[in-house]
Amino acid sequence: MAVVIGIPTSADPAERRTTIVPDVVKKLRAAGAEIVVQRGATDGAYLDESSLGEVSWVDSTDDVLAAADVVWVIGPPEDATLAKLRPGTVLMGMLQPYSSAERVKLFCDRQITAFAMELVPRISRAQSMDILSSQGAASGYQCVLIAAARAPKFFPMLTYAAGTIRPSRVLVIGAGVAGLQAIATAKRLGAIVEAYDVRPDTKEQIESLGAKFVDTGVSAAGAGGYARELTDEEKAAQAEKLGKAVAACDVLITTAAVPGKKAPLIITDTMVAAMKPGAIVVDMAAETGGNVAGTVAGKETRVGPAHVVGPINLPSRMPVHTSEMFSKNLYNFLAPMLSEGLLKLDWDDEVIAGTALTHAGEVKHPVVKQVLGL
Ligand code: NAI
Repeated sequence: MAVVIGIPTSADPAERRTTIVPDVVKKLRAAGAEIVVQRGATDGAYLDESSLGEVSWVDSTDDVLAAADVVWVIGPPEDATLAKLRPGTVLMGMLQPYSSAERVKLFCDRQITAFAMELVPRISRAQSMDILSSQGAASGYQCVLIAAARAPKFFPMLTYAAGTIRPSRVLVIGAGVAGLQAIATAKRLGAIVEAYDVRPDTKEQIESLGAKFVDTGVSAAGAGGYARELTDEEKAAQAEKLGKAVAACDVLITTAAVPGKKAPLIITDTMVAAMKPGAIVVDMAAETGGNVAGTVAGKETRVGPAHVVGPINLPSRMPVHTSEMFSKNLYNFLAPMLSEGLLKLDWDDEVIAGTALTHAGEVKHPVVKQVLGL
């Protein structure tokens, strides 16, 4: 029997992305798979029954789960849905592996083979599967659009009949995938851009985009190319040097993250208090605790002279392209497991083994196991 890929509607009613797009339907069909989609699951991305292609449509999540061997989701399913997954089902999506020990236990109890796409190893071969990168790029881009729309100033220099308007100064903190895309977007809009990251390799990347690197003298490269958490002394040194750049900017965009940890608080209330009147802060880390004192996830707040925006689910704001990227990332991860329409998991493959959260009742990822105390 051919493997069946199931696409339920999202657990989050505000989610507009979907995990299936027409190109991926064609590729899955060519690989001998069948696809079952819940009606409504693709509406947010403007895909309907006439455009998606050769799939079977069903009315309920229960119908999807009853038919599917592999379930593709954007975020973690609700507990009620998880309880209905058939034992042995393969679940793939952004499962937020570090956020809930209870959920990981439920995956084990239900004998779910869960692949948390956030865990895909950052190696060259797996770049086409890297959902953190594809969705992060969209988030970085959106942060700048939010800031530009909210700012009381132009981003570019503008010469008009009565004089010249000076360009806005944008400071980006955290120059990973999202931060680099934010820098590039702010540059395209004509702003003067400065950026900062604790990883020393980012200096060259920041400068190659035409932005200036803010040197605080604090360097904290950690394992796997990620940042590590800073010590209290390093945090103090960073705050002192960054303070000046924060006070001088018109727009501050923060994207700093450390995998498996709460987002680092980098911009203190004293630093926000010293910002220019009408400054705009967009804190991309709002959902994981925030990089800025005073950030409220999902809200804009007035903090002293500044407006602090804490956007949530940024990739869902551009669901056509982020669904396309998400779906292709999932397909590229699944494709090597498909052979003549059947699913075969090779546990010696470092990408498959490194992305597995749970399998056969066990937590497979040692770091998640340690962070969640399982
Ligand atoms: P992330 O989302 O984990 O963090 C965002 C940025 O915040 C990082 O650049 C990090 O260094 C920075 N940061 C953390 N703490 C900070 C602090 N206290 N102050 C200032 N900045 C701070 O990062 P992302 O975007 O997931 O990238 C992580 C690494 O993975 C990078 O080295 C990136 O180049 C690499 N990467 C590799 C890929 C591949 O080879 N397949 C694909 C994408 C990324």
